[in-house]
Amino acid sequence: MPLPRITVLISGRGSNLAALLEAEKNGSLRGIVHTVISNRADAAGLAIALAHGARINVVDHRAHADRNGFDAALAEAVDAGRPDLVVLAGFMRILGPAFVARYADRMLNIHPSLLPAYPGLHTHRRALDDGVRIHGCTVHFVTADLDHGPIVGQAVVPVLPDDDETKLAARVLAAEHRLLPAAVRAFCDGRWPIRDAIRHVNQSVVRTASSGKFITLFYGEIDPGNARVRYINAGHNYPLLRRADGGVEELREGGTPLGIFEDADYDQGEISFRPGDGLMLYSDGISEAIDTMGTEFGEERLRSLWRQRGHRPPADVIALVLEDIASFRGDAAQSDDITLVVVGSRGG
Ligand code: GRF
Repeated sequence: MPLPRITVLISGRGSNLAALLEAEKNGSLRGIVHTVISNRADAAGLAIALAHGARINVVDHRAHADRNGFDAALAEAVDAGRPDLVVLAGFMRILGPAFVARYADRMLNIHPSLLPAYPGLHTHRRALDDGVRIHGCTVHFVTADLDHGPIVGQAVVPVLPDDDETKLAARVLAAEHRLLPAAVRAFCDGRWPIRDAIRHVNQSVVRTASSGKFITLFYGEIDPGNARVRYINAGHNYPLLRRADGGVEELREGGTPLGIFEDADYDQGEISFRPGDGLMLYSDGISEAIDTMGTEFGEERLRSLWRQRGHRPPADVIALVLEDIASFRGDAAQSDDITLVVVGSRGG
């Protein structure tokens, strides 16, 4: 699965954008800044984006008679980048409810105050006027209520006795440059729940298993609502997906068996799983079953059985495979244990 794609919206300087790009470059963002969109053609951040190789686009708010027109044009530009995440990094236009709803739960904003204190503009001046001792910045999900969405992270800075607006702003901005990449990374990591889980299981197996032992694991999640299967195959025989038309595909994404490399990383696979499709997981007790002549049962025989008979109910398929192995083996003993799981989906 590719890294999450990010679209950043800016209006000016772009120092927060630069912090994101730097994190992307050093591998700590776990996402890719694919597109940068500004509502001003003279925004300095556009040059920063170009230098990094991101795509840029300008949607000038002055070219639209009203906010709805601007929001619609902006949504079109954002959608063109097919983002998993939209980040408002110094984007100085208020976005209407339709735009906000379109990117619900995948749009973050950075705001220069410790929300819920000081929503809106001139946050540093207001903080100084109030004599607060701490100030900072917030990354939050964007909701229709300006500067009020669920908080993802905050960074705190002190307000010092000789601070003026410029000094305080600079201190907060430096904190923003640490907070925003960390918040975006947390969002991107959150998109890898299976991957993270398997990575942790692997690490604990490496630490606890006796040396020379390893575990093969296939982990899959069926998402019937979206007709998808997400999975990680950690060194197991490739499970076989049978399409309703008899086509067979292998589920190969993943990585090494658990317990070998402590820093092993795993790729998550994702495939469609529609009514009529079926999934077969098997152990090598099947593929490596041996007949009296010493010949292996083999993967191909299993595949062709699955291709031809896999439309039958799962219990029938299991019985057919077991019968076929028994007849293949004849008088030869079963050399290894057999594990066989068949998952069907109704309606095909
Ligand atoms: C930052 O202070 C950000 O919190 C606010 O606008 C400013 C943008 O600065 N929303 P930059 O363009 O990222 O340098």
